[in-house]
Amino acid sequence: MESTTHSQSTHFIALEDKHGAHNYHPLPVVLSRGEGVYVWDVEGKKYYDFLSAYSAVNQGHCHPKITAALKAQADNLTLTSRAFYNDQLGPYEKYVTAYFDYDKVLPMNTGVEAVETALKLCRKWAYQVKGVAENQAKIIFAKGNFHGRTLSVISASLDPAARNDYGPYMPGIELIEYNNLAALEKALDDKNVAGFIVEPIQGEAGVFVPDEGYLKGAYDLCKQHNALFIADEVQTGIARTGKLLATCGNCSCGASCERKPEIKPDILVLGKALSGGVFPVSAVLANNDIMMTMKPGEHGSTFGGNPLACAVAIAALEVIEDENLQENAQQLGKLFRELMQELVDTSDLVNLVRGKGLLNAIVINDDEESKTAWNICVALKENGLLAKPTHGNIIRFAPPLVMTEEQLRDCCSIIERTILAYEKTM
Ligand SMILES: Cc1ncc(COP(=O)(O)O)c(C=O)c1O
Repeated sequence: MESTTHSQSTHFIALEDKHGAHNYHPLPVVLSRGEGVYVWDVEGKKYYDFLSAYSAVNQGHCHPKITAALKAQADNLTLTSRAFYNDQLGPYEKYVTAYFDYDKVLPMNTGVEAVETALKLCRKWAYQVKGVAENQAKIIFAKGNFHGRTLSVISASLDPAARNDYGPYMPGIELIEYNNLAALEKALDDKNVAGFIVEPIQGEAGVFVPDEGYLKGAYDLCKQHNALFIADEVQTGIARTGKLLATCGNCSCGASCERKPEIKPDILVLGKALSGGVFPVSAVLANNDIMMTMKPGEHGSTFGGNPLACAVAIAALEVIEDENLQENAQQLGKLFRELMQELVDTSDLVNLVRGKGLLNAIVINDDEESKTAWNICVALKENGLLAKPTHGNIIRFAPPLVMTEEQLRDCCSIIERTILAYEKTM
């Protein structure tokens, strides 16, 4: 039995290796089932998922309310394209704009498509409203950013792996230090600047949380210079950081979200957990003065706003509210960092823990190019917990937000045990 089951993983890994492009480097685990905070591999071994598909599965795997919405809609109507109206899109647009308090939504599918949409919208606004001269618009990005993989966003990336050999790059991009208001103020002096796009916490870069007041300061500077503040909340949004949005700041509305965030981005970009990881659903939200600059035929997507996506997204957002997930993320995140701090204090292998809500990372005492974080993730897998390094020395921890305190404590003891055991082998 043992050899048969093990050969199943080997079989699936070999298939991907032979027939799929080698554009990812997955941990050697083959998953076939998920429920809540757990996933199972093809051999039947159970794991805690501590990545949540890069924060897409905030509501937990195969949430029954979301999959029920998917199944019900799948039997009715899945795709019309936007050549025709459908009976799901309007109600979804009404729901999602009320949920995040914007006039309009532009529905897309993947995160990076929504980012692209936001960038296009920002340029359009610059030409039509701000009065920037033709083809002169610039958008400011922060160094260390990750906005996806298309040509325009990798043009703003400094990561050689994302960028090298994909040139020529898109012009009209200005890069400044993250978490540096003076640098932003200087860049905004250019009258051709249309906007500033920023991740409220840089996830892929290794969960970098900016200083208190940075986002508000950046927003205020954008207002002073008549530039749009664009928040890429594809990873941080939808309860992950202990608030509905990471841009909510220290807003205290908690469970009964009153949609009065510390700052309200001019353009809000969402993806991932907008569908609870059930389906690719992304969105760009903005008010009429910005959104209405785009006219019919100027932007779109065959699948964007499809009936299946609309039904799934409403269910996924309802789950966030029904289960008060931002509150859970906030409380468990605090506990996680406390427990990990104890590990930092006892282990020479872990330098620090940082994060917000349930988007956290530990920094391993080794260099960025090392394999230590990868090796620890392989050891964690053996011990029943799945996580992934963001760099050679950083491990991101982002479990589904439906986790209980007991489960979180269990996970922290797996992490602690694994790291202390690994340390002994060094
Ligand atoms: C902040 C941010 N923006 C955009 C994206 C791209 O999303 P997608 O992979 O769905 O295109 C990601 C993905 O990790 C992200 O973290």
